[in-house]
Amino acid sequence: MSARIAVYPGSFDPIHHGHLDIIARCRPLFDRVVVAVLGNEEKAPMFTVAERVGMIHELVRGDGFCRVESFSGLLVDFMDRVGAATIVRGLRAVSDFEYEFQMALMNRRLNPRVETVFMMPKEDFSYLSSRLVKEVFRLGGNLEGLVPPPVLARMAARLGEERATR
Ligand code: PNS
Repeated sequence: MSARIAVYPGSFDPIHHGHLDIIARCRPLFDRVVVAVLGNEEKAPMFTVAERVGMIHELVRGDGFCRVESFSGLLVDFMDRVGAATIVRGLRAVSDFEYEFQMALMNRRLNPRVETVFMMPKEDFSYLSSRLVKEVFRLGGNLEGLVPPPVLARMAARLGEERATR
């Protein structure tokens, strides 16, 4: 039987506990999950794609279940390259649904072999997004328990760099 490989794509700028919760939920369902970090430099991310891949790798390393890669171009083409047929996406609230529904159907249209499955993160993380994480961090809010400490440390360093160059 061929391995059940899932791809968990996203910007992960930065990764937070909601994302890690989804990765953990993949364990009983798949043989392997490839965390696929989109190289969307045009969105002016806080971290480069290499930094994001590095941080995620640090959090999941030593674990044969999870691989971390970057990709650009169409997600369905990346799926073919890694031999995966399942896209995993987190669904936090009804507000996520429309965008996710469109992407799932477009991806299926582009490659009928591909299915998208949605997973709900733990309720504690249902309001969490990378965008809010960055905003709260920049304004000095406490993100303990929402963002892993090594990521918070990198964010502090990046904020220091940003302020020094202003
Ligand atoms: O975490 P995000 O930013 O919501 O993730 C969006 C992502 C990376 C899943 C989506 O933008 C994507 O798949 N981009 C790759 C380009 C692509 O395949 N576009 C067509 C999607 S239907």
